[in-house]
Amino acid sequence: MAAKKASESFSKTLIEEVHKWGCMKQTGVSLRYMMEFGSKPTQRNLLISGQFLHKELPIRIARRAIELESLPYGLSEKPAVLKVPSFFYAFLMGLLLFSVAHTNCLIFYADGFFVRDWYLDSFRDLRSFPEIKDTNDEREFTQMIKAIKVRHNNVVPMMALGVQQLKKGMDPKIVYEDLDEIHQFLDRFYMSRIGIRMLIGQHVELHNPNPPLHCVGYIHTKMSPVEVAQNASEDARCICLREYGSAPEVNIYGDPKFTFPYVPTHLHLMVFELVKNSLRAVQERSMDSDRVAPPIRIIVADGIEDVTIKVSDEGGGIPRSGLPKIFTYLYSTARNPLDEHSDLGTADTVTMAGYGYGLPISRLYARYFGGDLQIISMEGYGTDAYLHLSRLGDSQEPLP
Ligand SMILES: Nc1ncnc2c1ncn2[C@@H]1O[C@H](COP(=O)(O)OP(=O)(O)O)[C@@H](O)[C@H]1O
Ligand SMILES: [Mg+2]
Repeated sequence: MAAKKASESFSKTLIEEVHKWGCMKQTGVSLRYMMEFGSKPTQRNLLISGQFLHKELPIRIARRAIELESLPYGLSEKPAVLKVPSFFYAFLMGLLLFSVAHTNCLIFYADGFFVRDWYLDSFRDLRSFPEIKDTNDEREFTQMIKAIKVRHNNVVPMMALGVQQLKKGMDPKIVYEDLDEIHQFLDRFYMSRIGIRMLIGQHVELHNPNPPLHCVGYIHTKMSPVEVAQNASEDARCICLREYGSAPEVNIYGDPKFTFPYVPTHLHLMVFELVKNSLRAVQERSMDSDRVAPPIRIIVADGIEDVTIKVSDEGGGIPRSGLPKIFTYLYSTARNPLDEHSDLGTADTVTMAGYGYGLPISRLYARYFGGDLQIISMEGYGTDAYLHLSRLGDSQEPLP
């Protein structure tokens, strides 16, 4: 089965418009700008923000739609990488199957490459919304973009399954990290998604008449990284307990009173992924020995430029030959949870490991606000993950 090209299921005018908007320049915003702007959510500011999104979101969405359209063909031109051109269709079929299990949108998206169709639907919704002139228009627009955000909720698990299907259909001799085109595409795709969701979420949250103390939309102006690390570690330990029956300790070092402005949900996600990796490594290493599992250590350092969070474990490290693979979306040394649950309905419960998404996605979140993630390993001993968060908050969003 070949995926339909967009032009076969969407009008020619719409496709032309997508291409026109996809060439326009994107405008990035910084954490600091979002915070300063959002600290005064007056009707006038909400109107300005709505007008900005009315122009900006279609540009960003059009870019992704174009890329989703051209990707299969680009990939099929690389016979050295892919066994057969229809290889990518396994990926698409994976997405399709997953959508059947997780959403009831099959009728909507059965005709072809429906992830791209979501982008085209959202583009059309945005472009058919008339100019925002007053508060009423802005309120209606906010409802619409809220619905767009929900429409795209399941993109990550769907892509994860798609990638899994892709991996299954691959010649085992192919080295994953050589599939550069796919990794770079996924990096751009997810980075852009983080940005779009941040902008929409931020705008929607600014309408909250009773925002929690010190919160400007998604941003917490006095976020304690130690506190977030504590919560994320507890969540990760719960999953470890559920899967292994026990969980190593996690000790956190740093001043709990130290705060800086950041998005707690982003930090929670990153620390959660890093701690899960450490717990798994330590747990698996100590399961066969009588030794008490050595605790995982988290150190929070408040520098002038960066806040750095180090997650250290004694889980045996990663062999040097494995290091180039760990930031790819196809690599995991855990069994894929989807292999174990033939019933796809259970696949979206949070699992310890297996999708290979933890590190690459966490690094994108770090980079989104100008930070980074590095992994240093001592094979035979353990791993240190350094999560750098830019403290100044004025680096522009990366715009793929
Ligand atoms: N702290 C760690 N100790 C040992 N191996 C690790 C550690 N962190 C990551 N890895 C390796 O990197 C791989 C990819 O990690 P990740 O992207 O989080 O995906 P997943 O956890 O789903 O496998 C893991 O499968 C594991 O082999
Ligand atoms: Mg992981």
